[in-house]
Amino acid sequence: MRNEIPKAQVYIESLIPQEAASKQKSRQFAEELGLGRISLSPSEGQLLSFLIRLHKCRKFVEVGTLTGLSAQYILEGMDGEGTLWSLEKAEVHAQKAQAALADHPAGSKAHLLVGDARVTLESLASEGPFDGIFIDGNKAAYGDYLTWAEKNVRKGGLIIADNVFLSGAVWGDPTQQKFNDKQIKALQDFNKRLADSTLYESVLIPTAEGMNVAVKLF
Ligand SMILES: C[S@@+](CC[C@H](N)C(=O)[O-])C[C@H]1O[C@@H](n2cnc3c(N)ncnc32)[C@H](O)[C@@H]1O
Repeated sequence: MRNEIPKAQVYIESLIPQEAASKQKSRQFAEELGLGRISLSPSEGQLLSFLIRLHKCRKFVEVGTLTGLSAQYILEGMDGEGTLWSLEKAEVHAQKAQAALADHPAGSKAHLLVGDARVTLESLASEGPFDGIFIDGNKAAYGDYLTWAEKNVRKGGLIIADNVFLSGAVWGDPTQQKFNDKQIKALQDFNKRLADSTLYESVLIPTAEGMNVAVKLF
């Protein structure tokens, strides 16, 4: 949940070109659902694209589609050439995402899978190994998504996860949005595992929400 926007972010985003109509559509849909503040910001989206392009990913998985905003940044990072499987639990979110992606030049490269990602991820395994995954779904299940990624993302692949600060709850700050102990423990364990240098080369980027970026070494 993005609350107060830091001045650095305002400045950075003043330098980024306005988002295309298909992305504005995703934002509009998220606003209509009352969820505008949980989409990636333009600078976070740009970072996601940038990492995926640098890593030359062509087979990518996303957990947590919402209205398809981050999916568009992922497709752009793959230069419109790769395939994205984007997983979303809420049918209504997936429908909105489909409508926004229909307006994106690479939208047909996204396959939306509706259902609990812990189930749909298993059905996807036969398409792997994957070049990377973006984790932005149910916070309490981040550990389950990581367990799946450790089996199905290739050696040298990317694991990127958003909201890893849980608005400060991981270091004990009181937060506006209430997180339960299970969610907090899940994120603390998740960050700890990605920080294990025998398993990952990783960097935890201090974006407003915390974005963990890791290369899988095994
Ligand atoms: C933070 S939003 C994703 C935002 C999106 N990545 C973006 O930036 O445009 C989280 C999404 O995960 C979905 N979600 C929550 N639990 C899920 C689950 N168990 N399986 C799949 N999706 C889930 C929610 O319905 C919501 O749409």
